[in-house]
Amino acid sequence: MKPANVGLLGLGTVGGGTVNVLARNGEEISRRAGRAVRIAHAAVRDVAKPRICDTSGIALTTDPVDVVRNDGVDIVVELIGGTELAYELVSEAIAQGKHVVTANKALIALHGNEVFAAARAKGVMVAFEAAVAGGIPIIKAIREGLAGNRIEWLAGIINGTANFILSEMRDKSRTFDDVLAEAQALGFAEADPAFDVQGIDAAHKLAILGSVAFGKPLDFDALYVEGITAITPLDITFAEQLGYRIKHLGLARRTGEGVEMRVHPTLIPERRLLANVNGVMNAVLVKGDAVGATLHYGAGAGAEATASAVIADLVDVVRALSTAPGNRVPHLAFQAEQMADVPVVPMAQTLTAYYLRMQADDRPGVLAEVASILASNGISIEAVVQKEAKAGASQVPLIMLTHPVREGQMDDALARIEASKHISGAVMRLRVEALDGD
Ligand code: NDP
Ligand code: HSE
Repeated sequence: MKPANVGLLGLGTVGGGTVNVLARNGEEISRRAGRAVRIAHAAVRDVAKPRICDTSGIALTTDPVDVVRNDGVDIVVELIGGTELAYELVSEAIAQGKHVVTANKALIALHGNEVFAAARAKGVMVAFEAAVAGGIPIIKAIREGLAGNRIEWLAGIINGTANFILSEMRDKSRTFDDVLAEAQALGFAEADPAFDVQGIDAAHKLAILGSVAFGKPLDFDALYVEGITAITPLDITFAEQLGYRIKHLGLARRTGEGVEMRVHPTLIPERRLLANVNGVMNAVLVKGDAVGATLHYGAGAGAEATASAVIADLVDVVRALSTAPGNRVPHLAFQAEQMADVPVVPMAQTLTAYYLRMQADDRPGVLAEVASILASNGISIEAVVQKEAKAGASQVPLIMLTHPVREGQMDDALARIEASKHISGAVMRLRVEALDGD
């Protein structure tokens, strides 16, 4: 049978990895797909740049539109990144009647609703497994493997760079900037690493996971997003002394009021498997009503790990080329006309426990004052740690764990604590999740 011809947009970390894995495993891949998968044409910015892959046999161009409009290309694989050019190219590929595979979570999170509508109108596929959690087949797991379940919640470490930074800070006492530079050199970080450390990349992925899990249209702007830039070695140490690890988590949870969709650093009990996911590894814990908790673990970034997901999508697309569009797996797991616009719960209404760290005057009555403010806001304290003052210091770190409370109540309490003349600076507040699978 005639090979499926692929047009590749981008030959960087993921594009280069895809070429390498296709070359190495081509025979097995074609035995699975039913025909050979061949890279026919590829676009890059600079054709003279050294590559991690062998490009002989691939026609190279600096004009990605050439690839998208090439009549000989059946499937366009978008691995350029960003949202503007990528959106134009993917839209043009769909308009040309070509199927699309992409690893671009920003594109899907921000423009997925329009992209999928255009693809449905044209009867073409858009596959995006590599957009979430690198090599872990989490989209397929939720969309197909867990299709019998009502998904109750999911929680994931879904940014490899952030997890790498937090792990190295904890295990090797390395500095934030030093580890970030290494993540960039290894090709894990986004073109703009602010996306990784400010939580935006994880939020793109969580927006996609939430849609696939709950059958709601993509709505990136409704998410709460916090990154890891405020995490200090002090917090990592105190969390550890209390029996927790700090992980950057994406959390999506059904409640009586809608769905919580939030990305932030989180204290997780150290005995949880998720607390022990380190380095660039990702993991997503999904709780279905029938199956219970399932944990999906693997490399969250990197050339070949991500290529694994890109090629799985290519195989799916090639297998489904002759399938009637209405019989294909829906993009976001639920039939397009069955999507439900479930509201995202405002952050002030979310219910979670907290870790608090503040600089308090080292004198009698201060702890009682803080406890009384918390109590008058309906917040109950689970644990308190007060460190000894360093010689000559008039203030000490005061660390507290609370029981779950509405975020709005905690906001009010923190405003009052920060106004106290016995507390200096802002209170460090991190959310705590038990993730006990109930
Ligand atoms: P890279 O920066 O390594 O590669 C981008 C590629 O796109 C390069 O080959 C570049 O060309 C090419 N390119 C950029 N702009 C243009 C243009 N205007 N015209 C033609 N070619 C262009 O990115 P990654 O491979 O790391 O990431 C690609 C996508 O995959 C992104 O959406 C990213 O978020 C996603 N992703 C990345 C992962 C990773 O581990 N890196 C993991 C999962 C998803 P040139 O090489 O000549 O500069
Ligand atoms: N920059 C991303 C990360 C790449 O570190 O997780 C994988 O999506």
